[in-house]
Amino acid sequence: MNEMIKGIKERRSIRKFKPEMPEKKDLEQIIEAGLCAPNGKGKQSTIIVAVINKELRDKISKANGKIGGWEEDFDPFYGAPAILIVLAEKDWPTRVYDGSLVMGNMMLASHSLGLGSIWIHRAKEEFEKEEYQEILKSLGIEGEWEGIGHCAIGFIEGENPKAPERKENRVFWVE
Ligand SMILES: Cc1cc2nc3c(=O)[nH]c(=O)nc-3n(C[C@H](O)[C@H](O)[C@H](O)COP(=O)(O)O)c2cc1C
Repeated sequence: MNEMIKGIKERRSIRKFKPEMPEKKDLEQIIEAGLCAPNGKGKQSTIIVAVINKELRDKISKANGKIGGWEEDFDPFYGAPAILIVLAEKDWPTRVYDGSLVMGNMMLASHSLGLGSIWIHRAKEEFEKEEYQEILKSLGIEGEWEGIGHCAIGFIEGENPKAPERKENRVFWVE
């Protein structure tokens, strides 16, 4: 098995992170891998907001938990210190597919660098709030953006979980 397929098979969603921030050069590589994802018509309609500021990270965590309906003290990012938020142009037809591939590349790149990651949902609902569009504007990001997902990244606390068995009868060959 080659290294890439091995990595794809090993990667798991991580739900317990150490508080230490990964090195910025590693986050930059992960982001670059995300930006290299295939995308509809080659439009490159996605952007990434890389949150390594604890104050904003905690604020987004609170908002995310509220949308999800969890208890106040639950951190939906499981302690991950870096949150890479993928957004896509709101009126672009393949925005969700494009953004999902960015997310996939970033999770695999994280794994290849020995970091844990997980897709955390509800970015769409977050960025429907005026307050979040204002955050984008404050970063100099103009236009209408839809939240696709948060890629929460950090050092894994504990073991990399084992993959559940793949369900059977999911492939239909036509030969
Ligand atoms: C679109 C999408 C949204 C997800 N949202 C969440 C989430 O909000 N919280 C969470 O704990 N896991 C979330 N996950 C992670 C999935 O639960 C996880 O990928 C799945 O259980 C399979 O586990 P694996 O990634 O380890 O293979 C999400 C995954 C995807 C693809």
